[in-house]
Amino acid sequence: MVILIQNPVTTSELAFPILEWFHIAGFALAIGATAIVDFRLLGWGVQSRTAEELNQALEFWMLGGLVVAVFAGFWLFSSDPDMYYLNWAFLIKMFCLMLAILFNYTIHRKVLRRPSSGVGKLAACVSLVLWVSIIFGGIFIAWVRPGLGLS
Ligand code: HEM
Repeated sequence: MVILIQNPVTTSELAFPILEWFHIAGFALAIGATAIVDFRLLGWGVQSRTAEELNQALEFWMLGGLVVAVFAGFWLFSSDPDMYYLNWAFLIKMFCLMLAILFNYTIHRKVLRRPSSGVGKLAACVSLVLWVSIIFGGIFIAWVRPGLGLS
């Protein structure tokens, strides 16, 4: 007996836009929380708390948003995997996402503990550039012709 499980993102018209809503809401929360900490490292925004205190208060929302964005992202991806993994914008986005997560949980975390001014500002800039580049990668997915220019 063969049980066929249909992927709702390919059978229901509403599934893709609803998933894209969760995708955008998830990364807006994750990147928003990270940006508040990075702005503090740059000397902007919330002055009443240190960057490390802000990170401790916001890391649950950052991780929660990231999990929702990644889960919805993979589901969006499952709508047409062949189209996405042959898309330069998608591949660059995934590469930047891995770099951003690695940086966030290693160097960025270390810098928060001893945020000497110069290093703190540099780490904040690297972090913001990495997360924003993922957003641009996502936006350009729809504009880049799949096929890695091989065809
Ligand atoms: C923090 C991480 C992420 C960010 C900031 C992000 C950002 C974006 C943005 C800005 C869009 C365009 C939305 C639009 O045009 O309406 C998008 C679409 C998309 N993302 Fe992500 N994304 C993230 C993670 C992922 C992951 C992990 C995957 C899958 C493995 C993924 C798969 C997709 C797909 C398939 C689309 C739809 C593209 C389309 O056909 O329009 N994303 N993402």
